[in-house]
Order: sequence, then structure tokens, then C-alpha cells
Amino acid sequence: MLHPTIANISWEPPMIQPHQLGAINKFGHRRHDATRAEIDGIPIDDLVALYGSPLFITSEQRLRQNVRRIRQAFERHHPFVVHGWSYKTNTVSAICRILHQEGSWAEVVSGSEYDKARLLGVPGDHILFNGPYKPRPILERAIAEGAHIHVDHLDELMLIEAIAKEQNRVVPIALRLNFNTGYTEPWSRFGFNLENGQGHEAAVRVRCSPHLTLNGLHSHLGTFILDPRAYGEQVRLMADFMRDVESDGTTRIQFFDIGGGLPSQNALQGIYAPPEQAVPSIAEYAEVVGSTLAKALSGRPGPLPTLIFESGRAVVDDAQSLVATVVGTKRLADGRRAAILDAGINLMLTSLWYHHPVKLVRPKSGTPEETVLYGPLCMNIDVMRQTVSLPPLTVGDRLVFAPVGAYNNTQWLQFIELRPAIILVSESGGHEVIRQAETLATLCELERMPVHLSRNTGPWNAQPQPIEV
Ligand SMILES: Cc1ncc(COP(=O)(O)O)c(C=O)c1O
Repeated sequence: MLHPTIANISWEPPMIQPHQLGAINKFGHRRHDATRAEIDGIPIDDLVALYGSPLFITSEQRLRQNVRRIRQAFERHHPFVVHGWSYKTNTVSAICRILHQEGSWAEVVSGSEYDKARLLGVPGDHILFNGPYKPRPILERAIAEGAHIHVDHLDELMLIEAIAKEQNRVVPIALRLNFNTGYTEPWSRFGFNLENGQGHEAAVRVRCSPHLTLNGLHSHLGTFILDPRAYGEQVRLMADFMRDVESDGTTRIQFFDIGGGLPSQNALQGIYAPPEQAVPSIAEYAEVVGSTLAKALSGRPGPLPTLIFESGRAVVDDAQSLVATVVGTKRLADGRRAAILDAGINLMLTSLWYHHPVKLVRPKSGTPEETVLYGPLCMNIDVMRQTVSLPPLTVGDRLVFAPVGAYNNTQWLQFIELRPAIILVSESGGHEVIRQAETLATLCELERMPVHLSRNTGPWNAQPQPIEV
């Protein structure tokens, strides 16, 4: 009788495999045991059987836990903290609603995002309005509804002033600032620059206007910022600016907004350490922000400003997974193994920046080999993973990509393939669709056929087929 541990190992057929330079040979390979069979206790296979493949699966529990954990990390250092949910990160209504239930305000960067926040029931004074283009009608609405407007440039400042004058009111505004912390590539295209004096000029302009008042400062350093010291420098520079503008004796900064940019546990391309090692904990960022702010505010009379952070990625990324199914396999001309999946780059645009961790839904036997994962699009760019070590895949195998919650559901494209359903696995263990899979009707919905083209379908003169809705 075989020893029980040996008996559990399934038999593998012998194979000849070309030796890859730098790779461990067959005898040194570990079996590929990275599998993920369920999400919050619900078998992924059951979800795919119900809702189809590909499928985005959102965990309500993880989303709520993330936002609470991050806010609490900042609350340990400052008594008044607000999270502004960055709509552009994932604008699916149910996801926004969950975060608003958790107390997050809406952080929006366009007229349509503003309208969506209002549609979801967010009051104007709980909306942070960023972005370089805010057309007059939406600015008028935002002003009337008491939104927090973060001014991006001088023309916008003058437009707000003109609206305020017409309406004979004083409009509180915040200035968006940009500067070089020395730790990240500065995003100087948004807001007023501090180094060249634009920030101070804008503050003077506000001070001289009978229709404007400065009550907030904002800056957003960039995204996936791996060095907490960048935030320390950000807070220090913003606090210096705050002291300057408050020295007139009348200006009072009530909102101190440090933007987003906290990283998620994703594998950024070009970073070789795994996310657990490369990504500092949220507590480290909160500690730097909190201690720098406390130092900057010590001795400042009056109430403390509210600290706002606008994290998108760190809140939602690992709350969502994308399940894909293998539809074909092949050997490439250079000998590499490849698999074609039913989910492509049009659904996961972030595969341009990340090596998304990918796991099998069910364990597979066979020696792992470097494999290219392609999507279904007839386009060369459609690569989900350039190379990942996987056992031999066969048609019907399922893979889970995660984290994928940030910037995919907002940047995805109807390109060659339609977009699939997004579902929510709720805290109670239920699951339901929060965005339906698209159909041909979705694709054609907004198109119109000119009358002179509508009568004749072509030389064959066939009747057009009705679209199934
Ligand atoms: C003004 C502003 N706030 C917040 C965010 C969210 O950033 P992140 O997802 O990196 O936290 C962005 C994203 O670019 C932004 O432009």
C-alpha cells in the first residue's frame, strides 16, 4: 500500500519540455496550486452557471470592510475625516450606493458624474466637484446646491465669480494645487502650481472678490503612490500655503483635501516585489498624513479643518474579480503555450499597467509552463497576461483575475465584444446582477438610420432582421 500522502498525488504523464534559461526544471517545479473556487462562500462555478462567462463579481463585504478600514486608519490621527468616493474609479450605481451608505461623499469630475451623484441621492453639500472642465450649466447647479467646488484654473475661477455676481451671492470655493513633493512625478496639468506662484495669485484673486471666499484646499498627487513620504510632503506644502492665505485674518480653511492615490494590493508592471512586499500598509500613509498635519496645525486657533481623502483604487480594487473561461489553446510559433479566453482587454484595460494576479477556479494537474493569456478580440493588443505560469489549460477551464475593481468598469469598451454582467455578492450571502450583460440592442440603441438608407438593405434586398431585446 502506498503512503497516504503519495497516494493523494495524481499521476502525470511523462513529457519533454524545452529547458528555459533561468527557469527551474521539471523536477524543481512546484505544482500550480493557486486556485480560488469561491467568493465570499459562493462557488464561482455556480455564479458562472447562473450569470454566464465572462463575469465581474463584486464583494459587498470586502467593499464595506475596505472603506471602513481606510477611514478608521485616518481617524486614528485626526478627529474629522471624510472619504470622497471617486466616481471615475467605478461608477456602477450599486457600488456607489454601498459607499454612500458607509458615509462616503461623492467625488466627481464631470457634469454627468455630478448628475449621477444627485440621482443616487447624494446632497449637493456632500459632493466634491473636481476636474478641469465644468460647463456653466453644471456649475450653476453645483453652486445652487452647495457643492464643494475645487477650482482647476483661472478661467474657471472667473466663470464661478461671474455666476456668483449674477446670482448676487458669495460662493465658497477650494483651490486645487499642484507641486513637486520630490517623491512622485508631479501632475502639474491640474490645478494651480505652487512653485511658480499661480496658487498665491489665485488666492489673492479670491480674496479681492466680493463674490468668492476660500474655504478649502485640494491636491491629488497621482495614483498608486508607493512612498508614504510623498503624502507627508504634500501635507506640509499645503499647510504652509494654508498658513499664508489665513494670515490675512479673514480666510479660514475648513476643508483640507489630500486627494486619492493610495495603492491597492495589485501587481504594478515594472515592480518586481509581490504586492505584499511592495505596497506599504494604509496605516503607514495615515500615520504620515496625521502626524504632519497635527504638527502643522499645532497652535492654529479655532476649529480643526476636516481632512478629506478621495481614495478610489484602494477602496474598490480588491472588491471585484473577473472570471473568464478558456475557449481555445495553442502553441505559438516560438514554442510558448497560449490560451484564448472569453474576456479581453476591452473589459480589463488595466492589464496595460498591471500583471493582474490570476488563479484557476479548479485545481489542474500537469507541469506548469509559461503561458500567454489572450482575450477573444481579433486585435494584436488583446493580451490579458503576457506570461504566467499555469498547468496545461483546456477548453472550459476557468480563471479568476483579481483585483480588477478599479478603473475597469469605467474604462471598458464595447469593442468587438459586448460587455458582460456585473454581479454583487451581498453580505447576506445572496447574489444579483447590478449591471446587466449588454446585448446587440444596447449597442444599436443610440444609432439612427437615415431615411435614404433605411429602404434598401443592399443588392440582395433582404428584409433587415429585428433585433432581439
Ligand atoms: C482628483 C482625484 N481624486 C481622486 C482620484 C482617485 O485616485 P485613486 O484611485 O488613485 O485613489 C483621482 C484619480 O485620478 C483624482 O483625479
